[in-house]
Amino acid sequence: MKGIIFTEFTEMVESVFGFDTLDTIIERANLPSGGQYTAVGTYDHGEMVSLVIQLSAATGMEVPALLKAFGTHLFHRFAKIYPDMIAGESSALGFLDRVETHIHREVLKLYPNAELPRFENHWVTDRELEMVYHSNKHFEDVAEGLILGCLEHFNETAEVTRIPGDSADGGVLFRVRLAADAAAV
Ligand code: HEM
Repeated sequence: MKGIIFTEFTEMVESVFGFDTLDTIIERANLPSGGQYTAVGTYDHGEMVSLVIQLSAATGMEVPALLKAFGTHLFHRFAKIYPDMIAGESSALGFLDRVETHIHREVLKLYPNAELPRFENHWVTDRELEMVYHSNKHFEDVAEGLILGCLEHFNETAEVTRIPGDSADGGVLFRVRLAADAAAV
């Protein structure tokens, strides 16, 4: 997993929970890399799992809630770090539909060894998008947070429903339906 995900995570932990908590979880997670991440490095995604488990132990917050909050934070950071990827898109659903076909492809040009999830999208109506997330990393909580962060970024309100799948690679369906009162926006 790319270092930028780790550097964003450790920066979020430090700013929300403080340096001591960050220091403690890095120590307790017993990380093969030692926890000295650089944005361009590549690290075992298991290190992220270890860090989040330790963060959960240190804060008393559940792992899924922490991953989801991180996903939302990450979207806002991506919007700052990669403004060109968002420029030209005016709606959250339009953007989400382009993650698979455009955004993550651009990411692969920047980081050829990136290990990205796969999304299968389906428009139910022009106000409702279904996304099936496939990844052996099982970061569906992060995906949900990213979807929520995307909605916040575009200032849109939607109902996000999540339905776990039973396919071999654990596809998880997200149904994102714009709120009725968003029609006038
Ligand atoms: C400007 C927007 C975005 C950028 C620049 C971006 C970039 C990236 C990068 C760099 C990674 C790490 C790849 C690796 O570690 O090898 C990643 C992973 C991921 N991205 Fe995106 N992404 C964006 C938007 C989104 C959105 C909106 C979603 C959800 C719908 C999403 C879902 C994910 C997930 C869940 C992962 C974790 C890896 C996995 O689950 O297999 N991304 N993305």
